[in-house]
Amino acid sequence: MDGLMKFVILVPCSFFLVALIKFLYDYLWIPLRIQHILNSQGIKGPPYKFIYGNNDEATQMTKEALSKPMALTHDIFPRVQPHIYSCINRYGRNFLYWDGVRPELMISEPELIKEEAYIFINKLLGNGLVTVEGEKQRKLANNIFHGETLKEMRLAIIASVETMLKKWKGQVGKEIEVFHEFKLLTTEVISRTAFGSSYLEGEKIFEMLNKLSIVLSRNLSNTGIPLFVKLQKPSDMLEAEELAKGIQDSVSKIVKTREDKVVKGEADNFGIDFLGLLINAYHDTDENNKLSLEDLVDECKTFYFAGQDTVNSLLAWMVLLLASHGDWQEKARREVMEIFGNQYPNSEGLSKLKIMTMIINETLRLYGPSNGLPRTEAREVQLGKLVLPANIDILSLNIGLHRDPHLWGDDVHLFKPQRFAEGIAKATNYTAAAFFHFGLGPRSCVGMTLATIETKIALSMILQRYTITISPAYVHSPIPILTIRPRHGIQIILEPLHSC
Ligand code: HEM
Ligand SMILES: *[C@@H]1O[C@H](CO)[C@@H](O)[C@H](O)[C@H]1NC(C)=O
Ligand SMILES: *[C@@H]1O[C@H](CO)[C@@H](O)[C@H](O)[C@H]1NC(C)=O
Ligand SMILES: *[C@@H]1O[C@H](CO)[C@@H](O)[C@H](O)[C@H]1NC(C)=O
Repeated sequence: MDGLMKFVILVPCSFFLVALIKFLYDYLWIPLRIQHILNSQGIKGPPYKFIYGNNDEATQMTKEALSKPMALTHDIFPRVQPHIYSCINRYGRNFLYWDGVRPELMISEPELIKEEAYIFINKLLGNGLVTVEGEKQRKLANNIFHGETLKEMRLAIIASVETMLKKWKGQVGKEIEVFHEFKLLTTEVISRTAFGSSYLEGEKIFEMLNKLSIVLSRNLSNTGIPLFVKLQKPSDMLEAEELAKGIQDSVSKIVKTREDKVVKGEADNFGIDFLGLLINAYHDTDENNKLSLEDLVDECKTFYFAGQDTVNSLLAWMVLLLASHGDWQEKARREVMEIFGNQYPNSEGLSKLKIMTMIINETLRLYGPSNGLPRTEAREVQLGKLVLPANIDILSLNIGLHRDPHLWGDDVHLFKPQRFAEGIAKATNYTAAAFFHFGLGPRSCVGMTLATIETKIALSMILQRYTITISPAYVHSPIPILTIRPRHGIQIILEPLHSC
């Protein structure tokens, strides 16, 4: 009896003790050890706080910064990433930050960033193209931005822009909110690119993905003990699960439709669009190349997240910048008219647009969609002079670099596309790796060509028809939601050109 009692008490007690020790080891010992290792190499940062790390402070600071009104200036770093901004000022260009219990080494020194780009393998959103295993998928993605497919894409973009402009015809002289307009445009373009003829179904999938990203971003700063999160099961999590299931079902349906067509002999392949390539890989008999259905859904997710929001923001901010800098709007228009006249943009002309490219680069510098490139390395690695413990996240802060007056000069916060007139090297005071909105090294953006031609075509076709001014209703409030978005949209007014 006595022995049984002891057993009944001791067993749970020792389980509890083991769990407690494991918990303290993970949430206290490891973080403090990593902090010590980095501090001793000269990397400082805000001290680790038990379980929550530095996220509470960051959330608080962001909330406060965003609550203040701002004038139409481009000095937005202290507003959209106030914690990072203040850490750089306080601890230097490279510092250690705690995302809950996860250590993040933030780097904004060009030399380190350059090294990092070639050591680390990237993990961005989902398990899609951006993971270590993503090599075969990356090849797939690279395959679609070539030759015939690229030509098809140009025509699809022109058709999509044309649809948007038809709608705008009735709105001349009235207010138009372009962030929303470009959301419809970029969704259609990315959907046509990814899903080809099935693009209408694709758009529905993207609608669900968009909702999912909003739900997830609400949850981003929500660090806590995993156990409690499970117990609470907040409504957000339920919604996210439902959306994820809806997305999976819809993708399966499109895949099934295409498979049926091939089985019935109505088609002899699964399609030459991105999805077609993915379905081929899904049917691959070679295990090394085979994708699972889950992989396939992940690829679609990555493609959408990487390709829609980014171009959406770029186009919207570019229109704002041109609306508020009439001289550059006029220069860009003159170039477009010289190269295309009133014709549709052709591929040869697109590559000749120099002023437009300078404006794109300057817009990406000031309002680029990515704040930093995240990497995780499972092993201990050497980065420059630093020896980093395993499992540390590394974030190359392009937002820090792109706003560094030592590189760009005292006019760093001004919109001055002419800084790119003699190339990037000159603009960055000859610092390699000081400008990398499309990423660096082997993992850089596979969609750069698409992003560039999409932006050039849309802007050219708008400038051929209208002059753009800002509506008095516009309130400048950039806010970080995955990319940097205009919180209240971007309201503009169009006037037809005299020559039309
Ligand atoms: C203005 C537009 C865009 C910007 C600024 C941009 C920027 C980036 C950046 C910074 C990365 C991460 C690179 C790294 O971690 O080293 C990336 C990756 C990626 N981007 Fe883009 N991107 C844009 C548009 C697009 C478009 C239109 C697509 C697709 C249609 C796309 C597809 C991808 C993919 C698939 C990856 C992951 C590549 C890999 O690591 O395998 N992006 N992009
Ligand atoms: C919310 O965050 C917690 C903790 O970071 C995570 O475990 C959970 O999966 C997240 N919920 C959703 C819907 O992503
Ligand atoms: C703009 O940036 C891209 C790469 O990000 C570069 O290839 C191009 O030369 C730049 N163009 C100008 C005019 O700065
Ligand atoms: C450019 O770099 C040089 C040497 O690194 C430095 O002396 C100069 O001040 C920099 N120029 C600007 C505009 O910051």
